Amino acid sequence: MKIDGTPFRSIWVDETDHWSVRIIDQTKLPWAVDLVRLTTMEEMAHAIKAMLVRGAPLIGASAAYGVALAMRADASDANLAQALAVLGATRPTAINLRWALARMQALLQKLSPNARLAAAYAEAAQICDDDVATNEAIGKHGLPLITARAQNGRRVNVLTHCNAGWIATVDWGTALAPIYMAHDAGIDVHVWVEETRPRNQGASLTAWELGKHGVKHTVIADNAGGHMMQRGDVDLVIVGTDRVTRTGDVANKIGTYLKALAARDNGVPFWVALPSSTIDWTISDGLTEIPIEERAATEVTTMTGRALDGSIATIRIVPKDSPAANPAFDVTPARLVSGLITERGLCDANEAALTGMFSDLA
Ligand code: MRU
Repeated sequence: MKIDGTPFRSIWVDETDHWSVRIIDQTKLPWAVDLVRLTTMEEMAHAIKAMLVRGAPLIGASAAYGVALAMRADASDANLAQALAVLGATRPTAINLRWALARMQALLQKLSPNARLAAAYAEAAQICDDDVATNEAIGKHGLPLITARAQNGRRVNVLTHCNAGWIATVDWGTALAPIYMAHDAGIDVHVWVEETRPRNQGASLTAWELGKHGVKHTVIADNAGGHMMQRGDVDLVIVGTDRVTRTGDVANKIGTYLKALAARDNGVPFWVALPSSTIDWTISDGLTEIPIEERAATEVTTMTGRALDGSIATIRIVPKDSPAANPAFDVTPARLVSGLITERGLCDANEAALTGMFSDLA
């Protein structure tokens, strides 16, 4: 997608040295587009953990390049194992991390050390290209959900939570891919962007990328989503996900579950967009089997923004002595999900439909 007319991916190999890895530091958005250069596996691990890069598919792609950087330093068996362990421990919920590392491991462990460096870069690049193609397919399969509601030039209002746009992937996004395609096709699509406390991925990232692409959107407080649905102002909900069980339970950013409940109560379709790399075929019960990341309490007790004097400021919003808890994801049971938008098509959120559509993976 484009930033001020210039096409970007969210991660790429530096055009000058052809080995270091460039990312957009997402902790700086929307205030600055800071293109950070990463040169070691440790720097990549930090970028994932501190959320300079985030979003399930991008976490996977970043980890793959982290392995490539590790192979540049030392392509021995011991260093490969160390890189897989360090990168694998960065974030627990998004299964794409484990998927990408398994793909790197499967390839590299059967090669001799002197063949690993070139192979690692090539595989990381392939993971990125595959992600772009996958998300484009998700967009095409999801597009009819929007066009079907746009009869006679009617505006279609989509509500989304967190950021499942192009900067959460390598390009296109998952939940936002059908929206970008609808917009590009001239459909009057408008997005209700939930701010997504505590880290505000909606307010900071989704609003930024939709704005840069010219898509109509309005930021709302997380708590406003149900009210909008009751008023008939939401035609459908589309969210991304960090892990889907083989039975169709969906882990996504904290607060997603409440929107699924509100959507069900108001008869609003609740769709989840995902690449098949987000499906964890080894588990069936999302509530008990998906690890939920617990992040720092300071993400809840503080907020960061641009002060009126133009500086970036972090302020405390909770009394000094009040403890805070910060579960970063929740699980929406499959029964609340209208359907899944995958790269192979629309799929019911249940085991029979998922294993039928992905019989080669399940
Ligand atoms: O903590 P984050 O910002 O990495 O969480 C991201 C999400 O929850 C996204 O909705 C999910 O990864 C899907 S991204 C296409």
